[in-house]
Amino acid sequence: MSTAVERFDDGARARFGAHGRTFVRENELLRHPVYSRVLHWSVAAFFILALLSGLAIYTPWLYRVLTPLFGGGPMTRLLHPWFSLGFVAFFALQLLNWLQPMSWTPDDTRWMRRLKEYVANTDKLEPEYVDFFNAGQKLYFWAIVGSSVIFFISGVPMWFPRAFGRTTAAIGYVFHDLAALVMLVGFIVHIYEGTAAQPGTFHSMTRGTVEKRWAWTHHPAWYLHATGRQPQDDYEAAVRRQAGRSAEGGTPSMPG
Ligand code: HEM
Repeated sequence: MSTAVERFDDGARARFGAHGRTFVRENELLRHPVYSRVLHWSVAAFFILALLSGLAIYTPWLYRVLTPLFGGGPMTRLLHPWFSLGFVAFFALQLLNWLQPMSWTPDDTRWMRRLKEYVANTDKLEPEYVDFFNAGQKLYFWAIVGSSVIFFISGVPMWFPRAFGRTTAAIGYVFHDLAALVMLVGFIVHIYEGTAAQPGTFHSMTRGTVEKRWAWTHHPAWYLHATGRQPQDDYEAAVRRQAGRSAEGGTPSMPG
């Protein structure tokens, strides 16, 4: 029996799916359907607006540069909590959408122990147990959930200091700034990981698809579930094909 929340989530996915299209080519897999992409970019837009308006209010040296973007200082202060509420609202929908693939498993704890190898990029393929999201991505996701809760709880007294009292608002500032620091560091790492670090990843959030070799390289367990094929076998077959082409004088390029 599905709950009302699950029915809402399924309904939203179906409605968005009916309005947008994702073209999946022969050597590709569908990774992020329309609904996930719309939520992701709505979260990103509100996050960036909240970040810029927040930095403008927080730092005197950015105040003069950033506040004109929002129509001046008082307008920036007025808009910041609304941008933030937009961010929290869209992220809450993403939380429902990704709750299942983001749940932590013992394999994620295993993955965390080899974080050094991941950062150093020592292995050709990720371990065979890495599913739709790896533990680093899950950690980022849950850090956003935690930070959003802190932003909300600390931000409301800052928004209405008369109702909550000056002391509560002052404590709110400390937690708000700590959460902002976590989000800023996470955001910088996320942009790097989603673009330059792994070519082909950005495509998954724009066109919605990834190449099969991207899937068997970074998310082998997901590749197995999605295609029914062994990632290691397909990787080795691609290496053999590549070696054959190179021997015939083609341009060498490594699969995976
Ligand atoms: C504006 C620049 C951004 C870029 C280029 C970007 C890129 C991406 C890409 C390519 C993915 C898909 C990763 C995959 O399928 O494996 C993704 C996923 C995700 N994005 Fe973003 N994103 C951006 C902004 C944001 C913001 C502002 C947030 C939230 C504060 C966010 C939260 C997430 C989360 C939670 C995921 C799933 C987990 C992960 O892949 O880390 N993104 N993003």
